[in-house]
Amino acid sequence: MARNSIGKQFSITSFGESHGPMVGSVADGFPSNATIDLDHIRYQMNRRRPGQSSLSTDRDETDDFSLVSGVFEGKSTGAPITFLIPNTDARSKDYSQLKDIFRPGHADYTYQAKYKNRDYRGGGRSSARVTAGWVAAGAMAESYLKEQLGIEIIAYTQSVGAISCPPLTAPTKEQVDAHAVRCPHAETAEEMQQYIEQLKAHGDSIGGTINCIIKNVPAGLGEPVFGKFNALLAQYMMSINAVKSIDIGHAKNLLKTGSELSDEPGNAGYWNTKENKNNGLLGGISTGETIAFTLGFKAPSSIAKAQTAFDSDFNPISLEINGRHDPCVLPRAIPIVETMCASLILDLYLESKTN
Ligand SMILES: Cc1cc2nc3c(=O)[nH]c(=O)nc-3n(C[C@H](O)[C@H](O)[C@H](O)COP(=O)(O)O)c2cc1C
Repeated sequence: MARNSIGKQFSITSFGESHGPMVGSVADGFPSNATIDLDHIRYQMNRRRPGQSSLSTDRDETDDFSLVSGVFEGKSTGAPITFLIPNTDARSKDYSQLKDIFRPGHADYTYQAKYKNRDYRGGGRSSARVTAGWVAAGAMAESYLKEQLGIEIIAYTQSVGAISCPPLTAPTKEQVDAHAVRCPHAETAEEMQQYIEQLKAHGDSIGGTINCIIKNVPAGLGEPVFGKFNALLAQYMMSINAVKSIDIGHAKNLLKTGSELSDEPGNAGYWNTKENKNNGLLGGISTGETIAFTLGFKAPSSIAKAQTAFDSDFNPISLEINGRHDPCVLPRAIPIVETMCASLILDLYLESKTN
């Protein structure tokens, strides 16, 4: 496993397993003398933590973290910053049924095939538990970008199954958090919640989409030709568990002609377009306009409803999973999306200063 780090100028190294003593991250390259916004880190950790509502797994982790290096008197020193997040509510015995079974749709078989060795407790390293460390480091980056450059990153649940909310251009984090499902459109949020709860009651789960809107990114971020903003965004986002697709603003334009896609200039005197049809990115470099994208998440595969699985000899067996699982990952994935975006943007911002 030699790819547990991401980023060049600002990098995050992830470590830990779902039922080991802890998960965490080491963030390297964070600018020195910056105040560490512990409240914002705590806020994003709380939005990600399990056990936060009837729509998330019942595993009850407080996700208290310790910051054990790289900070002196509340400010970054320029040294690597390490976050430790203990696992306090792992119930490993719930997973003993999975010791010799490969869950359909989970990473059990591929980890076994690759490493010939598998921590089956809570999915081990393949669990989204490890994203707690990414969120801690990324939330620190998010505060820095907001303070230094005014960058705003807002994600929200756009659809659950076939239920989707009307297009929104400027929801606030408060509006997003007003409902457990994290859809800022109240009526749709209610419908989504009922649908998830109905499926959960039947031992089932569901996926959907998250929209993310990034404002005030300065022009010039992104490194052609293999470090394009959109290429790296896809890497950061597709590293998040259960993400199966990314649309960086163009799917709706695929049937349009060149003239229909012509991006007419807006106000004179600086670069801006009337409709931002290229979604704030040209040639893999930010234009200074808003960047928006949509991620597709699959339904979690660990469900109580009976499924047919392979055992370790590849014989089919009936499986009803009895651990604690999320019926829909979207509400908890929102802070992961936002903070991973922040980590990428900080990396590209610091890199742009070296050009
Ligand atoms: C926040 C979050 C929570 C998740 N919770 C669960 C869960 O409770 N049960 C489950 O089977 N998968 C869950 N997943 C998805 C699995 O981690 C993921 O499907 C698995 O690692 C296989 O990887 P893949 O779907 O990316 O191929 C979750 C994902 C996220 C982002």
